[in-house]
Amino acid sequence: MPNASPVIRILFVCTGNICRSPTAEGVFRHLVDKEGLKDRFQIDSAGTDSYHAGQGPDKRAVKIAKKYGVSIGHQLARALTAKDYDTYDYIFAMDGGHFHELKERAPAKHKAQIQMFLSACTHIDKQEVPDPWYGDEKDFEQVFGLVNEGAQALLKKIREERNL
Ligand code: 4NP
Repeated sequence: MPNASPVIRILFVCTGNICRSPTAEGVFRHLVDKEGLKDRFQIDSAGTDSYHAGQGPDKRAVKIAKKYGVSIGHQLARALTAKDYDTYDYIFAMDGGHFHELKERAPAKHKAQIQMFLSACTHIDKQEVPDPWYGDEKDFEQVFGLVNEGAQALLKKIREERNL
């Protein structure tokens, strides 16, 4: 019997792992499921900080995601670990601060490619998903919109790269 197709491991990283990266995890998983690729991906998210470890996502993020048919309420926040750099094939930073911190904390040798989450979105000029934590529902709507665009572009790019 031929070997099973390799699983592509993806980690989304923001600060608290309660707003942006859980939304990215949920939206990306939703797209992967819709495209019948569930068995080909392992998807998770983490925070550069551990303040909110063990907590569920922010209620505002859960509400907006639900409005668009994406369920994220079951997720639990966790902090990024050194092991993540060798578990995952791709680690996506939600903003430039996360990107720099991910690079700074990276072990000298590691497997993961570290990229900006919006890097596959060549049709929009934004590179960062802004922190909505101190904002209101409008900010969470904006985050969801950017995450949705970014996740679609990323999945398309990965499918092309991996002939999926
Ligand atoms: P996130 O948002 O990084 O998108 O989960 C934040 C959540 C909490 C904090 C900052 C950003 N905080 O400082 O507690």
